[in-house]
Amino acid sequence: MTTLRLIHGGRSGSHVPGLLIHNASEVVTMAGGLRRGDAQDDPVAHSADAVGGPESEDAPVVACWEGRILATGPRAAVEGVLEAEGYPLARFVRIDARGGTVTPGLIDAHTHLLFGGTREGELALRQQGAGYLEILAAGGGILSTVAATRAASSDALLAHGRRWLSQMLSHGVTTVEAKSGYGLDLATELRLLDVAYQLGREGPIDVIPTWLGAHAVPPEFRTRRDGTEAYVRHLLDEQLPGVAAQGRARFADVFCERGVFTQDQSRRILSAASAYGLAARVHADELAPSGGAELAVELGALSADHLASPSEEGVLALARAAAAGHPVVATLLPATTWFLMHKDYAPARLLIDRGVPVAIATDFNPGTSPMASLPLAMTIACLQLGLTPSEALAAVTINAAHALEMGDDIGSIEAGKQADLTIWNVPTHRQIPYWPGADLVRMVIKRGVPVYGHD
Ligand code: NIG
Ligand code: FE
Repeated sequence: MTTLRLIHGGRSGSHVPGLLIHNASEVVTMAGGLRRGDAQDDPVAHSADAVGGPESEDAPVVACWEGRILATGPRAAVEGVLEAEGYPLARFVRIDARGGTVTPGLIDAHTHLLFGGTREGELALRQQGAGYLEILAAGGGILSTVAATRAASSDALLAHGRRWLSQMLSHGVTTVEAKSGYGLDLATELRLLDVAYQLGREGPIDVIPTWLGAHAVPPEFRTRRDGTEAYVRHLLDEQLPGVAAQGRARFADVFCERGVFTQDQSRRILSAASAYGLAARVHADELAPSGGAELAVELGALSADHLASPSEEGVLALARAAAAGHPVVATLLPATTWFLMHKDYAPARLLIDRGVPVAIATDFNPGTSPMASLPLAMTIACLQLGLTPSEALAAVTINAAHALEMGDDIGSIEAGKQADLTIWNVPTHRQIPYWPGADLVRMVIKRGVPVYGHD
């Protein structure tokens, strides 16, 4: 048997092209595409218990070849097919899952990964009753992070990004979306997008950059009477063309919220971005119904995020879009509601009942969610949003992949997809949200290469 070596970065090819994961109690494939309605609760889990235990010849295994999934199914059957189709078993590294659970690598589809400084002071302010937008209006909140981020060197941002990506990796995450939005001037926004891009190239986690120039109105525009409108014009005339020319951002996002950017301003920004090839995502109705969900549907956005306070019409619009085959993924961020100490969580059950596909993400950022653990977000989703553990797992794998327009390549264990896998130290995926805050990840595999592991 070939000995397993951990390969830094996960990009260099192993000398052995194949990888066979065996001795799993459960393999959760999430096969079958985007989940919505009742299907969100069907993870397509194959249990070894039902067929005589993890060592039995019918226990589920996963075979990968040169970074892609080759096959999954009962061990003896998969081994037979491999030999018959010209993939000799001698060319596979065997990985012993030791009775654990194998899932697709987790996908964090909404983060503000890169920023300077910290904001622990706001926790105390909130405990004394200060509101989130009140702190922002007084020049704190996002604006204090903007000042610290503008002052941070690219090397400092790279080091910060590596630190938190490595935390995410240790929690089973293999793909992360990373928004700009703490620069709010062209030069710093470009720097943030470039750092995100460089971090993705470094690996092992894939980092998908999103331009969020419309995160807040920066201080230099706030002194003007028509400050927000002037900043929107700056976004349209200067930032967006610069960001498009740089070519790092894949998506555009806007904080569409009463008191931040209106529905109309958000529409102008996202429509212009789409003309440059940047697909839309929306920070929608986080604090009050602001037309964000409706706008996401109108624009055919990939995702409407937060949705803690959508209007009835917004929920209906999301339901209609899903029923019509143009689903906008509702990316819910329950850690943010929790950390803001707000009572009203997103109406996740209503959304699922209406057939809207739901994803869960951390919203990792220094103000409202300094939390890098996607499994902990799953726990909060179960406790506060009422998701089942299986729904929560679909929300951080296949549905999160679709929210990033990557559903054809990642998010499930299906032949031909990228071999991004997490092996958990628990016998069933239902225990992932059950142990909040625990270190449950035994190994992470990126493109068929083990990139993180411990006993
Ligand atoms: O998604 N709400 C807007 N943006 C972030 C928070 C950013 C911050 O407070 O620094 C969010 O919660
Ligand atoms: Fe956010």
